[in-house]
Amino acid sequence: MKKSSILVTGGAGYIGSHVVKQLLEKSEAEITIIDNLSTGTAGRIEALKSIAGEASRIEFIEADLADFSMIEGIFKAKSFDSILHFAASIVVPESVENPLKYYMNNTVNTTNLVRLANEYGVKNMIFSSTAAVYGEPKEVPVNESAQTEPINPYGMSKLMSERVIKDTASANDKFKFVVLRYFNVAGADMNGATSIEEIDPRIGQSFPNATHLIKIAAETALGKRERMYIFGEDYETEDGSCIRDYIHVDDLADAHLAALEYLESGGNSDIFNVGYGHGYSVKEVISVMKEVSGVDFEVEIAPRRAGDPAVLVSDNRKIKESIGWKPRYDDLALICKSALEWERKI
Ligand SMILES: NC(=O)c1ccc[n+]([C@@H]2O[C@H](COP(=O)([O-])OP(=O)(O)OC[C@H]3O[C@@H](n4cnc5c(N)ncnc54)[C@H](O)[C@@H]3O)[C@@H](O)[C@H]2O)c1
Repeated sequence: MKKSSILVTGGAGYIGSHVVKQLLEKSEAEITIIDNLSTGTAGRIEALKSIAGEASRIEFIEADLADFSMIEGIFKAKSFDSILHFAASIVVPESVENPLKYYMNNTVNTTNLVRLANEYGVKNMIFSSTAAVYGEPKEVPVNESAQTEPINPYGMSKLMSERVIKDTASANDKFKFVVLRYFNVAGADMNGATSIEEIDPRIGQSFPNATHLIKIAAETALGKRERMYIFGEDYETEDGSCIRDYIHVDDLADAHLAALEYLESGGNSDIFNVGYGHGYSVKEVISVMKEVSGVDFEVEIAPRRAGDPAVLVSDNRKIKESIGWKPRYDDLALICKSALEWERKI
């Protein structure tokens, strides 16, 4: 990958920090991180600086994307080839209670970023979107041309952002994008481990009051929660619990590097699902977490939650065929173990 200047918004967050780590390890890019540390942590920035070593190629700027004049000041002072845009509010139930927070932070701030990208000649943008844009898909595995019908403001705020990016690129042929629609992201930094026993993450997921199943299962295994809940066991699946497509965060990070290379080598703007193309039920995930932790923690059955489709699994053929992304960690035990080992450290 050639040396370029990359702006990463939300680089102090879970997924953004894993992508910065891969950029440090696999490219020569100069990286500027903008993050307001609302859910991101200074600890991740320190970890990234230590991965970068002496000749630091990362600059961290604590700033809020809502501060348009400060953000424009950064674009005036620095020139970026590409933007990787992770910063967002991400909690679905909160988006239902406080939709404007989501439309402001996700859609409005993305729109401003796209405006600046245009005015300051940024060539490429990679945008973190979500399977939530599909709502309750009529067919699974769901492919990129399926209908997009988000059922909550979070999903809608992301779909609207996709549209802003797409329309802008249609009007400006010097600006290209890749939208990545992530499925269920989990796990932590593999840090070069070649076996499950060697896993020793330097960064991982630290979201406060997480709603992510694998993180909650890891917290419960370590006694940070008394018990955990399965929301519904009467779905039309083999064991009655919901099925999701869990992707290891380092594989997701690889997809960003592949997408960047694709754009830099002349690829067209496009939208790709990122998942493994198969799923596991909530009960299977819990049983694997029990196995890798050796703890038979308490699990209760609770009623279904509104808006949870029975099965949500990606059709991932497009990203594999178009940009040559190859997952390395498609292994539920490994994903659970990496999440657990990170959870021990925080
Ligand atoms: N975690 C998942 O399973 C998942 C699934 C689909 C999509 N996504 C998307 O991936 C992206 C990253 O998610 P994550 O899981 O790493 O969440 P995260 O909360 O760990 O990361 C988001 C980062 O953005 C920062 N941020 C938020 N608003 C900001 C603002 N106004 N200005 C500056 N910084 C701001 C936060 O401090 C944080 O560091 C998000 O866009 C999210 O919608 C995540």
